[in-house]
Amino acid sequence: MVVGDLAESTEIAVIGAGPGGYVAAIRLAQLGKDVTLISDDPLPGGTCLLRGCIPSKALIEVASLWTHLHQAQELGLRFENARIEWGSAQSWKNEVVKKLAQGTALLVKQYGAKWLEGRARFLSPHSLQVQGPRGPGELRFEQAIIATGSAPRPLKGFEFDGKHILSSTEALTLEEIPESLLVIGGGYIGLELGQAYARLGSRVTVAEATATLLPGVDADLLRPLARSLKGANIEILLEARATEAETTKSGLRVGIETAKGEKSLREFSKILVAVGRVPFTLGLDLEKLPLATDERGFITVNERCQTHIEHIFAIGDVAGGMMLAHKASREGIVAAEVIAGHAAAFDNQVPAVIFTDPEIAYVGLFEEQAVERGIEVKTGMFPFAANGRALTLNQKEGFIKVVAEQSTGRVLGVQIVGPHASDLISEVTLGIEMGAMAEDFDLTIHPHPSLSEVLHGAVESVLGMPIHRFQKKQK
Ligand code: NAI
Repeated sequence: MVVGDLAESTEIAVIGAGPGGYVAAIRLAQLGKDVTLISDDPLPGGTCLLRGCIPSKALIEVASLWTHLHQAQELGLRFENARIEWGSAQSWKNEVVKKLAQGTALLVKQYGAKWLEGRARFLSPHSLQVQGPRGPGELRFEQAIIATGSAPRPLKGFEFDGKHILSSTEALTLEEIPESLLVIGGGYIGLELGQAYARLGSRVTVAEATATLLPGVDADLLRPLARSLKGANIEILLEARATEAETTKSGLRVGIETAKGEKSLREFSKILVAVGRVPFTLGLDLEKLPLATDERGFITVNERCQTHIEHIFAIGDVAGGMMLAHKASREGIVAAEVIAGHAAAFDNQVPAVIFTDPEIAYVGLFEEQAVERGIEVKTGMFPFAANGRALTLNQKEGFIKVVAEQSTGRVLGVQIVGPHASDLISEVTLGIEMGAMAEDFDLTIHPHPSLSEVLHGAVESVLGMPIHRFQKKQK
């Protein structure tokens, strides 16, 4: 598509080509719609693929392999002169990203969605200006989907400079493994990247403002992770705030204040600021529609992903809720199908996954949340340490916990901390979506030896009769 002086037109304009936008564009094209996918990146994938989930998981894998290589001594394996070639690791990560982004670009093309590179802003409720490599042009549309994602939340006094004070994006492209790293924020990003860099040799300190890491996550799930973080020599400061930073010859001098009012000055080579993300609407000129945002800047939508302007949709991080790629993709499908006249709605269970080691994954209700809602529950738990496959993998930390309704046995929530939690959570997500009972999981034969048997054990425990763990009979 050439964007020049003459206005081009399209049935549906999708702004942003992350896992929300490109999925919506492909589904619209599959449904026979004329769709234009607009992106200010040269390739699709957005934050998740280009500078978030995928590159971070690649580097986390490098760090994890490095750790397991050392643990492999227990398995009788010996290595001489093992070392990290960081440049090669970075190149491998970049290749993974490139391969996936190019593959996605090919899919967009094969399905017949038009690709338009440039920055979009609204001129009116039916037209956009797109500032591309060949200058600005106007694109008229019948319907639009805003899928512009989110950006790292800035922290006053710790402005990103790309050199010493880093956002998660910049922390993924470092030329050297930092000697020391202060991570501000003990959430998803802080712990995933903090643990990875600690394993690669950085001296890592995590300063978290609240009294717990991963606020909102069940405390039981945190215990195996806390042990692992301790094992990697990560210093955790809770109820701690970084107050100021000044650059020195070797890095930074940072003021840290604890809840008790104790202040200290500490030296670090780099700081990673990971205190959350904010919706990205900068430069979209939403006021031209006009389209209001909530007090935190998120675009408000209904369960059909429609804004208060019926023909304009918003999906993914920019529309609030859980800021997760798979939630954005599902919303992309919903918006596309609603536009095509189908009866679609977003009413799904969204599993959350944290790629620390051990991994954490959960879906549905925590026990505490169920109790708060006045639901009587029964729970069951099974440890990975009693599972044959976990032992043969030499990864025995963690457990699976199942929360079920007392009266019916309906499974309300499952929490996993342990190896491959990110994959194990899918079986239970399907089960909860289908309204499965604990008995349904129990009647399902789980292959032996496999990690999925830990779920079977947890469900047997809900039912009061686990085979591979002694549990007293309830009177
Ligand atoms: P987060 O919301 O997970 O954690 C931010 C943490 O920073 C919180 O614990 C908060 O209490 C703390 N904090 C806030 N202000 C602070 C301050 N001034 N000093 C110290 N601590 C402070 O945000 P994060 O880690 O930046 O990640 C952003 C989002 O990206 C996540 O909410 C998640 O949705 C998404 N994400 C998802 C991943 C996954 O699915 N595995 C991986 C990485 C990110």
